[in-house]
Amino acid sequence: MPQTPHEEPAFSYGRARLFHADSLEWLKRQPENSIHGVVTDPPYGLVEYTPVELAKLRAGRGGTWRIPPSFDGSTRSPLPRFTTLSDAELDDLERFFRNLGAALRPALVPGAHVMMAANPLVSHLVSYALDEAGLERRGEIVRLVTTLRGGDRPKNAHEEFPDVTVMPRSMWEPWLLFRKPLDGTVASNLRKWGTGGLRRVSDKAPFGDVIRSSPTRPAERSIANHPSLKPQALMRQLVRAILPVGEGVVLDPFAGSGSTLAAAEHVGYHSVGVELDPTYLALASKSIPALATLNVRD
Ligand SMILES: C[S@@+](CC[C@H](N)C(=O)[O-])C[C@H]1O[C@@H](n2cnc3c(N)ncnc32)[C@H](O)[C@@H]1O
Repeated sequence: MPQTPHEEPAFSYGRARLFHADSLEWLKRQPENSIHGVVTDPPYGLVEYTPVELAKLRAGRGGTWRIPPSFDGSTRSPLPRFTTLSDAELDDLERFFRNLGAALRPALVPGAHVMMAANPLVSHLVSYALDEAGLERRGEIVRLVTTLRGGDRPKNAHEEFPDVTVMPRSMWEPWLLFRKPLDGTVASNLRKWGTGGLRRVSDKAPFGDVIRSSPTRPAERSIANHPSLKPQALMRQLVRAILPVGEGVVLDPFAGSGSTLAAAEHVGYHSVGVELDPTYLALASKSIPALATLNVRD
């Protein structure tokens, strides 16, 4: 039985437990060497998930959130504006991830991997901060996904500069891959802690660092109406890989609607999640069972 945290979860389903807390505080209360892998999609603007900005999002007034127009009859989900972060906000962002790395490190077992969704505009800062916190960079997983972000002509000068695109149309999403330093060799770490590598896809196929992925489909969005919902087809592949021998506990410190926990339940792993916002906590308690049992293809 994996070592698990002592507090009462706000919600549990199967092998998944979800806690209502600030994850940086929650992590400080966890026993050393109790988490075997992390798969997470953290808040990036840092301000976009504050109560004030969430109230604006829920009232449909935007704020930090950009509410794009309808497209092909369906309203696109709102996106935070990463391009408007000031220098001070970028410093805050780096500090936040350094603190997160420092809070994660003792709770992780040696050899535990961390997979963290990022975006190309800020991934260098996050990577630097996690490295500073003493986690080893192990590469990046590229999620090949075409979105409607980027690719626009200069604002208010479309006709003047018809051949110009300001930023590339986004066709991929980086997932940073880090590992807590090993205790000995990979083999001895695997024997002692059950971590150190990633689970193979099959006997013939190692886990690879490029995953083709569709944007989250309407069927999943109707189950879990979270602006940053990640698709189960992707999450199940990432979560399965994080425990190389299929044993231990997977953590998502920014659980949102619970897509990591649902994926863990689907692949048969123990998982814990932490979510600060009570509305998303309530959403996750409904969506985890539905997402975990959903049939998906990609
Ligand atoms: C990018 S979203 C993750 C959404 C997730 N990918 C999903 O599929 O539902 C980040 C989440 O972290 C939560 N959050 C922000 N700061 C937090 C903190 N300090 N502790 C715990 N949760 C936090 C936000 O409320 C938000 O739901």
